Amino acid sequence: MKIKGSTLLITGGASGIGRIMGRLALQQGAEAVAIWDINAEHIDETVAEHKQYGTVRGYRVDVSDSDQVMSAYAQVLKDLGRVDIVIQCAGIITSNSTFNENTLREIDRTMQINAVAPMYVGLAALQDMTAKGRGHLVNVASAAGMLPCPNMSIYTASKWSAIGWSESVRVELQRMNSPVKITTVAPYYINTGMFDGIKSKVFPILDPEKTARKILKAVERNKIYAGIPFSAHFIRLMEGIFPTRIFDWLFGDVFGLYTVMDHFKGRKDENREHLRRAA
Ligand SMILES: NC(=O)c1ccc[n+]([C@@H]2O[C@H](COP(=O)([O-])OP(=O)(O)OC[C@H]3O[C@@H](n4cnc5c(N)ncnc54)[C@H](O)[C@@H]3O)[C@@H](O)[C@H]2O)c1
Repeated sequence: MKIKGSTLLITGGASGIGRIMGRLALQQGAEAVAIWDINAEHIDETVAEHKQYGTVRGYRVDVSDSDQVMSAYAQVLKDLGRVDIVIQCAGIITSNSTFNENTLREIDRTMQINAVAPMYVGLAALQDMTAKGRGHLVNVASAAGMLPCPNMSIYTASKWSAIGWSESVRVELQRMNSPVKITTVAPYYINTGMFDGIKSKVFPILDPEKTARKILKAVERNKIYAGIPFSAHFIRLMEGIFPTRIFDWLFGDVFGLYTVMDHFKGRKDENREHLRRAA
């Protein structure tokens, strides 16, 4: 679907690649952009930044709350008239702890935001889009959703879930000959601050601006799956071909992917504050 002339809704749109995609979409001629985020201060900053490029509205929504999702979606339809493209970027990583050191709250919060919330937003969007006979849903998962990632096992589980769900719904829509499209996005680490402190031995950490451009291009080209960089597409192939111990050696020792999180700091955000208070 073309970005030009479309109305976009971007979750997690007040930071990182979501924020950049909102700006790029308006610069590319989008009709309007709705920004959903849990961080009210960042929403205000984003709206102030984007409004020079076109129509933008900010909404404080916790996507892990299904009532908020449903009423905010209805509000966007009321305010902007329609939603053509939904890009799901809201996501969290809470720590680099090993699983035994995690808390119940971290399990709940991470799975709710990264795995369950995309289904809430997806339900609102797909019910609207299938009724209208047009639309495009973009689910930003992660390359972590395709392989083992130690010291971020809950995040990894949430992204495996997001990919499995997104891909299954994509096939359902295809089987129904639906005009509604789904793109599943699986990027490597991106330099947005979410994974601050990590060290990547072989593969370069992605540039946020370039990654955002690639995702919008994937929407325009109706790509069903966008691994970023392209080599991410080979993870599943390698997992299928190599015995697990050889795969562990290649991805863990040679590519250094099992130690990336050793120096993770991440960002202090509302979710981590929320978890700290609840602990
Ligand atoms: N940064 C990376 O290295 C990387 C790599 C692969 C995939 N991803 C995924 O890409 C997406 C965007 O990542 P980013 O680096 O731009 O992250 P980011 O931290 O810059 O932005 C995420 C946004 O989601 C918002 N958010 C968090 N919880 C929310 C909630 N409950 N309701 C609404 N909004 C909420 C945050 O406030 C933030 O504005 C995430 O889903 C992330 O998991 C990121």
